[in-house]
Amino acid sequence: MQQNTSKYLIIGATGKTGARVYNKLAGQGLNVKGASRHGEVYFDWRSPETWGASLVDIDAVYLTYYPDLAIPEAPEDIAKFCALAKIKGVKHITLLSGRGEPAAKVCEELVQTSGLSWTVVRASWFNQNFSEGMFRDFIDAGTIALPVGAVTEPFIDVADICDVVVASLLNSKHNGKLYEVTGPELLSFKQLADIFTQVLHRSVNFRQISQNEFVSQMQSDGVDSQTIEMLTYLFTEVLDGRNEYIVDGVEQALGRPAKRFTEFVVDNLQAFSGGSQ
Ligand SMILES: NC(=O)c1ccc[n+]([C@@H]2O[C@H](COP(=O)([O-])OP(=O)(O)OC[C@H]3O[C@@H](n4cnc5c(N)ncnc54)[C@H](OP(=O)(O)O)[C@@H]3O)[C@@H](O)[C@H]2O)c1
Repeated sequence: MQQNTSKYLIIGATGKTGARVYNKLAGQGLNVKGASRHGEVYFDWRSPETWGASLVDIDAVYLTYYPDLAIPEAPEDIAKFCALAKIKGVKHITLLSGRGEPAAKVCEELVQTSGLSWTVVRASWFNQNFSEGMFRDFIDAGTIALPVGAVTEPFIDVADICDVVVASLLNSKHNGKLYEVTGPELLSFKQLADIFTQVLHRSVNFRQISQNEFVSQMQSDGVDSQTIEMLTYLFTEVLDGRNEYIVDGVEQALGRPAKRFTEFVVDNLQAFSGGSQ
């Protein structure tokens, strides 16, 4: 078999998907570099002068943007990044995008028309927001308190997203494909709380709070204003029912179904062991 000598760059390599994609490629003995503010290679979206050095001698990039492709700066940043990648000789970009966000779609189109080979992975909300993201403390505290009602979301396991991303970086059959990836079931936040209660054998409740209460809580937790603005947008606009459908992007890309939320909780019991019994 021909040896894979490609060089891969992971932007956001310390994040939920970035770290897993990095480890999967490195685990196969491939040549991979991780970039972010606290990673192997210093890269800051807010300082474009840091981007060029990370792109030297790179063939393919896994591109995650932070905090979200919906922020006003994103289209300009993505356009600049793609142009620079092209100049530096990059051949392929796999972009992580979010569902139901018109602004993210603009960024997807910038990658798709960049002149580089591309794959777009457009994902629903991550299960891992509850194990390693900002909803983690809710599970320890025993109450998921969010400004959301009965709306459902097809939460996805980042392991599934990463398998699609890795496949796209290793096999050219995924070039020019947009994979919309979701979990296999639509779940409300109340249903999520019920699953946690059942699997963890301790009570996890759901409480709907007002947007004002949510913002005050985040401010007192020291969350920065850009993140608060982004979450407000996600809860008030994106989580309005527009994403209440399941799609089979994981199956299309990998030929197997996506993981269920219950499996995620069972597989991550260690992450939830800190809560009150
Ligand atoms: N979470 C979800 O449910 C979800 C769903 C769909 C799509 N997405 C998309 O996934 C992406 C990642 O979101 P996430 O919230 O889950 O975060 P994450 O990937 O877990 O973590 C953020 C990553 O970005 C890096 N980062 C933060 N600020 C940066 C900066 N100024 N410059 C360069 N790198 C920076 C962080 O590393 P350092 O701290 O080392 O810089 C970290 O590696 C976003 O574009 C989001 O829209 C998320």
